[in-house]
Amino acid sequence: MLSVVVLISGTGSNLLALLKATESPLVPVRILAVGSDGPALGLAHADLYGVPTFVVERSRFPDRESWAKKLQETVEHFNPDLVALAGFMKILPPAFVNRFSPNLINIHASLLPLFPGANAVRDTLAAGVSETGATIHVVDAGVDTGPIILQRKVQVMPGDDVPTLHERIKVHERELLIDTIIGVAEKRIDLAKI
Ligand code: GAR
Repeated sequence: MLSVVVLISGTGSNLLALLKATESPLVPVRILAVGSDGPALGLAHADLYGVPTFVVERSRFPDRESWAKKLQETVEHFNPDLVALAGFMKILPPAFVNRFSPNLINIHASLLPLFPGANAVRDTLAAGVSETGATIHVVDAGVDTGPIILQRKVQVMPGDDVPTLHERIKVHERELLIDTIIGVAEKRIDLAKI
């Protein structure tokens, strides 16, 4: 059984898909806890599934390092095999990344290395490209630069805006996130060798 702590910042649709997937006894994954950096809507999904939640608010700490240290200690308390960033929108400092990587993965709404950063879908549309995608990658010291685990292409349609394109990408993100985590649990994916 692979144990996972999920970190979110927003609505948590990827988290919800993962929680649903882990309801199956055939899925050897257990979500130990869900954390966020603020009052994220998605924490309600964890409540619904009886999964413990925690919030470590950045604004309560004088700097990123002390905030991330508290976040790290809180995650460590659950002793997970894997930490999954599922729409976690804060950049984690090297100390946190070094502690958990390569067992630290992230979802990103583009075909990385194209369009890294917090506004991938907006930047994709601004660039006028016809194709984008969804990526799951191991987190390294950079921003969205870590080794790519799974990736899938998504067409940009005429008339797409940020919400319509992002929603189409998220359909694939959810599948890729679940496939990645089950793959790690079943030892078909070795994060140390990506
Ligand atoms: C996802 O689309 C994910 O790719 C993005 O946040 C969204 C969260 O959606 N993350 C990043 O952009 C990180 N760089 P959700 O809250 O509905 O799961």
